[in-house]
Amino acid sequence: MTDDLAQQAERLRREINYHNYRYNVLSDPVITDAEYDRLYRQLQALEEAHPELITPDSPTQRAGSDLSEDFPKVQHAAPILSLSNAFSEDDLRAWEERNLKLLPPNTELDYTLEPKFDGLTIVVTYENGVLVQAATRGNGIIGDDVTPNVRTIRSIPLRIPVEADGKSAPERLVVRGEILFFKQDFEALNQQQEAAGLPRYVNARNTASGTLKQKDSRITASRPLSAFFYDVVDSRGIVLETQWDILQYLRDMGFPVADDVGYYPTLTHIIQQIPVWESRRNSLEYEIDGLVIKVNDVAISDELGVVGKDPRGAIAYKFPAEEVTTKLLGVTVNIGRTGKVTPTAQLEPVFVGGVTVVNASLHNYEQIERLDIRLGDTVIVKRSGDVIPYVVGPVTGSRTGDEQPILPPETCPFSGDVIVQPEGAVDYFCPNPHCPERVFRAVEFFVSRGAMDIEGMGPQTVKTLIDEGLIQDEGDIFYLTAEQLLELEGFAEKKVENLLASIEAAKQRSLPQILASLGIDGVGSTVAALLTDTFDDMQQLITLSNTIKQAEAEFNAAASVLVDAAKSVADHDAELDRALLRVRNPLTELAPRYVGVEDFQARMNRALSPLLELSPLRDSISIQLAQALKKLIDAATPLLTIEGLGPILVQNIVDWFADEYHQTVLEKMRKAGVNMKAEKQKVAGDSLDGMTFVLTGTLPTMTRDEAAELIKAHGGKVTSSVSKKTSYVLVGESPGSKFTKAQQLGIPIISEDDLKEMVQS
Ligand code: IVH
Repeated sequence: MTDDLAQQAERLRREINYHNYRYNVLSDPVITDAEYDRLYRQLQALEEAHPELITPDSPTQRAGSDLSEDFPKVQHAAPILSLSNAFSEDDLRAWEERNLKLLPPNTELDYTLEPKFDGLTIVVTYENGVLVQAATRGNGIIGDDVTPNVRTIRSIPLRIPVEADGKSAPERLVVRGEILFFKQDFEALNQQQEAAGLPRYVNARNTASGTLKQKDSRITASRPLSAFFYDVVDSRGIVLETQWDILQYLRDMGFPVADDVGYYPTLTHIIQQIPVWESRRNSLEYEIDGLVIKVNDVAISDELGVVGKDPRGAIAYKFPAEEVTTKLLGVTVNIGRTGKVTPTAQLEPVFVGGVTVVNASLHNYEQIERLDIRLGDTVIVKRSGDVIPYVVGPVTGSRTGDEQPILPPETCPFSGDVIVQPEGAVDYFCPNPHCPERVFRAVEFFVSRGAMDIEGMGPQTVKTLIDEGLIQDEGDIFYLTAEQLLELEGFAEKKVENLLASIEAAKQRSLPQILASLGIDGVGSTVAALLTDTFDDMQQLITLSNTIKQAEAEFNAAASVLVDAAKSVADHDAELDRALLRVRNPLTELAPRYVGVEDFQARMNRALSPLLELSPLRDSISIQLAQALKKLIDAATPLLTIEGLGPILVQNIVDWFADEYHQTVLEKMRKAGVNMKAEKQKVAGDSLDGMTFVLTGTLPTMTRDEAAELIKAHGGKVTSSVSKKTSYVLVGESPGSKFTKAQQLGIPIISEDDLKEMVQS
């Protein structure tokens, strides 16, 4: 028995020591922090129950070390302590209980609450206000001297106080903080990597660590590191009595201190804040992996003392792990209603962000290649909040050599058609609009609640109808007969009657609702309503789109000489690439700029000059291009001038309606008696004349469509995105990013009741 336990302890020691080495020395961990914590706690528990099993080399007997041979060593002024962890409210209550037992009776504790920054500790020393030294935590007693690197981090003051406003610098001040990348900066760094043809960094914390430990500080300087400070390790010439005062003092001296730190009079108040933080976590500009709760009174905190390397006066509340590692077992291919091929990862089941996950998104094949994800890899999977779980990247350190590359399929697994990748596109597509999977996805969406809302037509029924050859597109739904349906298994008379009745009712849906059901990228109910404000017949959209496509084709023909000439240029600079992009996408890149500009040829020539210069015939090509562009602008003006429709959306709409297959389906619907015309708006008043509204969130008594109708009936306009031109944002329960945007721009925010009042007045 004890022998078994001894073996178990030995196995845990080895495993933990290996992971310490991967993390601290190689900066390339192969398991997540949460998994490491779990192993560590297992060993700790084992040793607590059987102290005879503790060996001098047990990782519990020393603080982890990140010392490297590349740097001079410095001794810290005081031990750089770590934190014990709590994972639940109970853990926090137990922590307070333990502390209270060590303190005089009736002691009352108040606390600070701080984000637990997911970075690495830095200890910076100032003498008479001047930064003289910066060191990593190291083993807590001795650290690496990384002063030249830290001097390159802009938010860390080289001299304090930063503002000369009367306060003077203390004789000596040693502060502690955390080095990290802001999310945005990390993304920018990765974009830079990609632009240079280098692999993306997967983990911000490890990259920050690697950046800080560069031997050449110019490399550190080239990467946008940031820092937050939260503690005074040592000082001469000042006295600070509470943690709250410490934070305030650091801020006064000019150190970056997170805005989000808080003071709370009791632990109950702190616990109430946890869900608030969990939901805010994703919208923070920096990564956190939990919260740090600290006894506010410094004297009490000191009196509580230290266990091992953890002070009793502070504790880390860790969020459930959002990133874990697991095995990538396989990749399945999904085909969407547009034919887009999406790879999905099949995973060894893993618990992450509070649920067990077996599938995760791999985004697209370009991303798979960029991240070099291979079949059989150990991969990092992330699931945070409501975001669909996705594969962050491979853990290359765990490779055995048996991993296989993942390639896009050559043929569609559903229709057998050869998969294509349109020029310039990232995605692959099944090109066959009759592909059974594409039809299934399209019909499933078309009939769903919130779209055409055809009751009794769930995904299973849709599948059966397709398998039985009764429908091949959305239009066929309106030709189903009772005889056909009665022959299907499970379709009794009543069921058939109900289904046919709801199909019949669907024919009379309003034009905006029908438009929003077609599955056009970006066209939901708001955009559909914008379209029907201008166009009151589906046919107008088709005719207009055909004309625009024709003009686009003429423009392309005129531009083809230039595109060919560009192909023979060996070294494309950014200017040439930009001009190529414009000429390839005249509807999104050129037309919107020149709407209403009669004499745009000179401006167009400038925008395309790197391309035009390639051809001796530039003058005549320029004339042809201008003529074609004029046609395109004239045709597209009714769409381009709809407020709230961006150029990409216009392009999607035009491409969709000009598509022959879509036209056939619409024609089928029209012939079956599906409504193709907008009702004329009934005008009820003009109290909202000239005002523009944006709607977000769930309203208490009306749907958003009803609110939009009400606004329009009183002369107002509804658009889909918030801008300076927006008059009001109507906000309901759980609003989206439009709400935040409105607050940023200072747009007045109103409720459903406010709207009703405005309409009545
Ligand atoms: S206080 C005695 N406050 O978390 C003071 N640490 O898991 C101990 N950390 O090593 C640290 N944010 O690197 C403190 N607001 C914060 C923190 C924080 C992140 C890190 C720190 C520490 C680790 C412990």
